[in-house]
Amino acid sequence: MKRASIVTSKFKAEVKTDLDRELNLREELVKIDGNRVSVFDGDKEVFSVDNVIKLSLETGISVDKLIGFTSDGKEIEIAYFTKRKEELFKKVIDAFNKGEQIEVKDEESEEGVRVGVGTLRWLWNIASRYRKTMIFGATLSLITTGLNLVPPYLLKILIDSVLLSPSHPSTLFINIIVYLIASYSALALLSSIQNRTLNNLGSRIINDLREILYKHAINHDYSFIERISPSRILSRLTTDAGNTNWLLVWGLPTLVTNLFTIIGIGVILFTLNPTLAAFILIPVPAIIYLIISYRRKSHRLYHRNWRRSADITSRINDTIPNFLVVRSFSKEEYESKRLREMLNKLYESSIAINKMNSVYWPLMGFVVNLSTVLIWWVGGHEVISGIIEIGVITAFIAYVSQFYGPINNLSNVLPFIQQSLTSAERIREVLEVKPQITNPENPKRPNMPAEIRFEHVYFGYDPHFPVVKDINIEIKPGEKVAIVGKSGSGKSTIAKLLLRFYDVNEGRILIDGIDIREIDLNYLRRKVAYVPQDVVLFDTTVGYNVVYGTDNLSEVDIIRACKIAKIHDEIVKLPFAYDTILGERGTYLSGGQRQRLSIARAIIKNPDVLIFDEATSNLDVTSEREVYETMMDVSKGKTVIMITHNVHEVMNSDKVIVLSNGKVVEEGKPIELLNKKGEFYKMFKEQINEENIFARMKQNSKEEKIIVNLIDIHNVKIDQSVRRSTVDVIYQGKVYRVLVPKMLFPITKPTFIGLYDESGKEIFLIDDYTKLDEKSRKVLENALAYNNLIFQVRKINEINIKGDQLEWDVETNKGPIKVYTIGRRNVVVLDSKVVLIDKNDNLYEIDLDKIDRKSFKILVETV
Ligand SMILES: Nc1ncnc2c1ncn2[C@@H]1O[C@H](COP(=O)(O)OP(=O)(O)OP(=O)(O)O)[C@@H](O)[C@H]1O
Ligand SMILES: [Mg+2]
Repeated sequence: MKRASIVTSKFKAEVKTDLDRELNLREELVKIDGNRVSVFDGDKEVFSVDNVIKLSLETGISVDKLIGFTSDGKEIEIAYFTKRKEELFKKVIDAFNKGEQIEVKDEESEEGVRVGVGTLRWLWNIASRYRKTMIFGATLSLITTGLNLVPPYLLKILIDSVLLSPSHPSTLFINIIVYLIASYSALALLSSIQNRTLNNLGSRIINDLREILYKHAINHDYSFIERISPSRILSRLTTDAGNTNWLLVWGLPTLVTNLFTIIGIGVILFTLNPTLAAFILIPVPAIIYLIISYRRKSHRLYHRNWRRSADITSRINDTIPNFLVVRSFSKEEYESKRLREMLNKLYESSIAINKMNSVYWPLMGFVVNLSTVLIWWVGGHEVISGIIEIGVITAFIAYVSQFYGPINNLSNVLPFIQQSLTSAERIREVLEVKPQITNPENPKRPNMPAEIRFEHVYFGYDPHFPVVKDINIEIKPGEKVAIVGKSGSGKSTIAKLLLRFYDVNEGRILIDGIDIREIDLNYLRRKVAYVPQDVVLFDTTVGYNVVYGTDNLSEVDIIRACKIAKIHDEIVKLPFAYDTILGERGTYLSGGQRQRLSIARAIIKNPDVLIFDEATSNLDVTSEREVYETMMDVSKGKTVIMITHNVHEVMNSDKVIVLSNGKVVEEGKPIELLNKKGEFYKMFKEQINEENIFARMKQNSKEEKIIVNLIDIHNVKIDQSVRRSTVDVIYQGKVYRVLVPKMLFPITKPTFIGLYDESGKEIFLIDDYTKLDEKSRKVLENALAYNNLIFQVRKINEINIKGDQLEWDVETNKGPIKVYTIGRRNVVVLDSKVVLIDKNDNLYEIDLDKIDRKSFKILVETV
C-alpha cells in the first residue's frame, strides 16, 4: 500500500502498475510530481515526461494505457497496466485533472466473499423486530432437545429399579409410566408450537427481506439496475432471500440444538458409565473422516449438478420467449439437440450423485451400527460380570443412537449454512449500495414550462468515456425542438439526462435557471414526459397501461388520451376493449399500436415538457403524420423535444439540433440549416422536397379537434330500435337511429358505454348508464346484453383444481354452467366482485355481496 504524500499544492501521487513497458507482469512505479510524470523500475527511472497538463486512460483487452497530454499538444503513452488497476488509475487521473490531492490506496481487489460476523450482525438487525419470537423459538428448540433425552433415562430406571428389582415397586412403575407419557406429550405439544412459531417467523422475515430489497431496487438509480441486471436482482429476491430465511429460521437453530444435543448426550453417557462412554469415541474419527471426504466430494458433485441444471433453465428461458427467432432460422432441431445434450449431462451428474450417496450413507450406517455392536459386546461383558446393570446398557444404546444423529445433522447443515451466509452477504451487498440520484435537501419546484438550458454538459455511462461532450442547448418554453443525429450519437442520452436518470459528469442542466439536481425528482418526472424508444408495456390491461403513473383519472381521460394518440378505435375492437389484458410482451398489439399507447401514456400525464424518442418510427406515413399532428395539437404551449429521423417532423420544428459523436455540430431553424448545406443538409437532402418544406403552413391552417362526446345523462332518451341489439337515441332534439352499445370497460366499469353507428363510428359515450331514467336504462341494458353479455353468478357449487385450470361449477342468472378458467390472470379480483374469463373469453361476474355464505367460503379458499 502506497500513500501519496501531501506536501505543497503541487499534485503528487505514486501508483504501481502491474505491467512493465514491455508488457511483462512486473510492477513499475508511476510517480507524478506536479507536471512531471515519471516511471520507475525499482529505483531506476525508465521514462519521464514533463509539462503534462492532462491525463487520460485508454482501454484495450487486458491492457490499459495511461496517456499524458503535454502543454505543447503532444499525446504520450506513459505506462501500461491490466484491468485490475483500472479503477485505481481512474481515480488518480480524475484527481490530477481536477487538481485535487487524493490518497492513493492500492488495495488488491479481493474476490473472495467476506462472509462473517458482520453479516450475522446485519442479519440480527434485520430480524430485530422479531427478536423476541426468535428467542422464544430457539428456547423451545432447546427444551424439546432436552425432552428428547429424558425417555432413555426413564427406561433405565424402569428396567433396573422396577423390572429387575425383586420387589417390583408398583408406585415407581406407575410414576415412570406417567413421566413417560408426560414427557412425550410435552414433546409433541412443544415441537408443534416450535414448528409453527419458526415457520411463521420464517414467512414474515422472508417477506420483509423481499420488501426491503424490492423497494431498494425500485427506488435506485437507473444505472444501478443496469449494472446489477434485472435477472440478478430477481435471483436476490427469490433464491438468496429464501436461503437467508432458511439460515435464520432453521440453519442457526439446528446448529445450536445439535451442538447442545451432542454435548448433552456426551455428558449423560460419561456420567452413566465413563468406560463404556470411552468406547463410543472409537468410531468418531472414522465418522469424521467419512464426513469430511463426503463433504469435499459432494460439494463438487452437487455444484456441478446445480450448474448444469441452471444452464438448462437459462437455455429454456432464452429460447422459449424468443422462439420466433428460433423458428425463423429453422433452428428447432438444433435447439432440441442442444437441450438433449444438456439434459444428458445433467443426467450423468445426477447419476454420479446417486452413486456417491449409495456408497456413503450405508457405509456411515455400518460404522454406527458396528459401534453399537461394540457397546453390546463390551457392555454385555460388564453386565454379565455384574459391573453394570442391564438398564444402563439399554439406556446407553438408546442414547448412542441419538448421538450420531446430530453429528450427521451438523455435517448436513453446515455447508448450507455456509451457502446461506453467502446469500445473506449478497443481499447485504446490494442493500449497501446507496442511490446516487436522490431528492435534494430542499427540493425546488420551478414553474413549468420554463426555459431549459444545457451548459457545458459532459456525460458518459462510464465517466471516463463521455458519450456527450460539451453540450450547450437552450430551449425556450413552448418551443418545438428536433434533435437529429446518427445512431449512437447520444440523442437518447440527452433525454435521459433531462429526466435525471443519470447525473451529468460536468456542467449543468437548468430549468428556469435552477439546476435539475435541486429540483424535486418526482415533480421533474411528472412534468417531463418521456416516450422512450423501446416501448415497455406491463402485463396487464390496456387501461392500466395508459394510466400508469398518473392517479385519479376517469375513464373519459383515458379515452381522450387514446383518441389523441389515435389508438382508441383499435382498442374498442379488442376483446374486452380497455380491459383487455395485454399478453406478455404486448402480444395483442402491433409495434405501431404499442408506440401509440405509449404516447397516450405520456399525454395523459398532462406534462409541460414532452420528449418523444423516435415515437412515430414504427408507424406508416399516414398514421405518423396524423399522430404527429394531433401531438402538436395537444402540446400547444408545451415544450416538445423530438428525437427523430423523420424529415416532416424535423422540417416542422422551431429549431433543430444536430448531434454528431456526442457533440452539437449544428443548430438553428430547419430552413437555415438546409441553406447552410452542412451536416444537416447531408443527412436529409435526399428526403427533402417541396411538400416537407411547406407542410408546416398546411398544418397550421388545419385544426383537428378531438371529440369525446360524453352524453349529458339528463337530456337523453333511449328507445328500442329495429334490432334487439341496437337502440335509438334521442339527444338534444335529434334522433340517432340503430346505435350499437358496447362496454368499453367490461370488467372494471361495465356501466361505461360507447354507442356506435352502423359504420362503427363512435357517436356517444355514457359514463354510467345506470343513472339513466328507468325506461331508457332497461332498453339499453337489454340491447347491451345482446352485444356484451356478462353472466351473473348466483351460486358456486364447487371449484375443482386441475393443474393450471380451474373448473367452476356455478349457477348463473341464465342457468347452470361449468366454467373453465386457465391461469391466474383470468380470475380478476376487484373490490366487491370477482370476474371470471373463461377459455373462450366469456365473462362471468361474481358479486361478493350477493352470493351466499357457502359460495363465498369456497371462493375465498380457492382464490
Ligand atoms: N446504458 C448504457 N450504458 C452504457 N453505454 C450506453 C448506454 N446507453 C447508451 N450507451 C452508449 O452511449 C452512446 C449514445 O447512445 P444513445 O442511446 O444516446 O444514442 P442515440 O443517439 O439515441 O442512438 P439511436 O439513434 O440509435 O437511438 C452509444 O455509443 C451507446 O453505446
Ligand atoms: Mg436513441
